[in-house]
Amino acid sequence: MTTKPAKVIAIYPGSFDPITNGHLDLIERGSRLFDRLIVSILRNESKQPLFSVEERMEMLWDVVRDFPNVEVDCFDGLLVHYAAAKQATVVLRGIRAISDYENEWQMALMNRRLQPDIETVFLIAGEAHSFISSRLVKEVIGLGGSIAGLVPQSVEIRLRNRLQRAASNNI
Ligand code: PNS
Repeated sequence: MTTKPAKVIAIYPGSFDPITNGHLDLIERGSRLFDRLIVSILRNESKQPLFSVEERMEMLWDVVRDFPNVEVDCFDGLLVHYAAAKQATVVLRGIRAISDYENEWQMALMNRRLQPDIETVFLIAGEAHSFISSRLVKEVIGLGGSIAGLVPQSVEIRLRNRLQRAASNNI
């Protein structure tokens, strides 16, 4: 049995395309549970992201800079290899609804099989955030709906700029 490390480092991995208030809630709560929390963006995604990894990192830094034990990073390849390289013993993930559960359950078991020393810790999304997803936020703003209160203000501005630019390129 491995002993508890003196300082618990957790990785909060994801696409964050873009960060929502649901992600931010998890970061806030995670920062109180762990000594160090590394919010890390997967680089080699098969999905076509709206924002580059660099833009997503900037958006994350904008909203986490007030948390002294939170940092932003990105990674390639297997999450458990990255976590081990960072000396992390926890992977933090959020669960919004039952529909998230099956995928998260599979990933957590696969990660534990690959690296038994790393535990996945799940936090249930706050009830105010349980319906928010990056995908829906992009869809709603793209179709002219309001996303006020769903993402940090700095992210809303970036989304508007990105969509305006896309619209003017299509004229
Ligand atoms: O925000 P997302 O898209 O739900 O995040 C998914 C993520 C990045 C956590 C997941 O795809 C991941 O960890 N990918 C890294 C590749 C990996 O380790 N795969 C095997 C573990 S199941």
